[in-house]
Amino acid sequence: MKNYENVVIFDHPLIRHKIAILRDEKTSMKEFRELVEEITTLMTYESMKDGVPTEEITVKTPLETCRQQVVADNSVVIVPILRAGLGMVNGVHVLFPSARVGHIGMYRNEETLKPETYYCKLPEGIEDKFVLVVDPMLATGGSACDAIALLKERGCKHIRFMSIIGAPEGVSRVAETHPDVKIYVSTLDRCLNENGYILPGLGDAGDRLFGTK
Ligand code: PRP
Ligand code: URA
Repeated sequence: MKNYENVVIFDHPLIRHKIAILRDEKTSMKEFRELVEEITTLMTYESMKDGVPTEEITVKTPLETCRQQVVADNSVVIVPILRAGLGMVNGVHVLFPSARVGHIGMYRNEETLKPETYYCKLPEGIEDKFVLVVDPMLATGGSACDAIALLKERGCKHIRFMSIIGAPEGVSRVAETHPDVKIYVSTLDRCLNENGYILPGLGDAGDRLFGTK
């Protein structure tokens, strides 16, 4: 895959360790859910180290008064792509407890692999917020591209996208379609199979999170 300025692939040993367990078909639904949350928190810590709106407040320590930077109140919105993106919301909330949540419902048509949008509910005023779109799987990139396009249509200007496993095809597609959006992926897998599943991947993230198969 080409090097894209707007793509960060983490490849961190702690995240790699957790992803190895996540991939294992024997990992239980509970453990899978917990791992998705933990990986998301680690990714959020790193991906939000720049750009997050901050503000200065005055803090009185036992010794003196000082000015300190804190994350600006009500500045971050998490947007999970349903269903599987829901599994990442708590992991972001650990670090941004007051972040509001917008939901975009999409499913891939199994034959065309094209995403179909069935739901969209976003917090008021989202256009001025720092929007973090989350979905554990970036396969063909269709869902991510459409979700980001929808947010741009609603006026969002500051968008980041975070995914646990990416296929080179999908990462390239999102990077090229939305060069202004920073894309964070924990690990880059080999390719897609003929059904659009990531190899080696972890299977269907939604089914594994919610026990639907
Ligand atoms: C999965 C996944 C992404 C999408 C990725 O969702 O959570 O949203 O596929 O594929 P793409 O990059 O090729 O668009 P799915 O459509 O299976 O819906 P679900 O989360 O409800 O299971
Ligand atoms: N969606 C998934 O849940 N898994 C894949 O491998 C591809 C798309």
